[in-house]
Amino acid sequence: MLRKSLAILPALAAGVVLSSLLPMAHAADADAAKAVMRQHQCFTCHAVAATKIGPSFEAIATKFAGQSGEMQTLEKAIQHGEKGTFGATPMPANPTVSDDDAKLIAGWISSLKK
Ligand code: HEC
Repeated sequence: MLRKSLAILPALAAGVVLSSLLPMAHAADADAAKAVMRQHQCFTCHAVAATKIGPSFEAIATKFAGQSGEMQTLEKAIQHGEKGTFGATPMPANPTVSDDDAKLIAGWISSLKK
């Protein structure tokens, strides 16, 4: 009885290690995304939870959540700008954001949905 329950301990331990590593990978992506966004001055117009000149990233995530092509929509808006989704103020194009960085940012924004 005791032997049997001890035998599952390594499996449990592996599970604990794995599930604690996953959020870490996620946090690293979030840090990388935010660093790129600081570089491109996205936070001049956007905040995570508050409306500034542009909508909050949480509002953007929630708006596009679950739509087909959500990632492509976000990536396109980031690189080419967008207007009319949230109001009269347009979002400028950011031609210096690379495809990889646009994907990274879109992934982070989408993770903020409520
Ligand atoms: C000059 C201000 C400004 C800057 C700088 C800016 N944005 Fe925006 N952004 C806006 C506004 C305003 C909107 C709302 C546009 C609309 O209504 O469609 C917006 C919308 C968005 C959207 C949603 C797209 C949509 O359909 O409207 C995303 C995603 C986004 N911004 C990401 C970014 C990222 C990432 C950066 C930096 C690379 C950035 N923004 C820089 C003002 C800005």
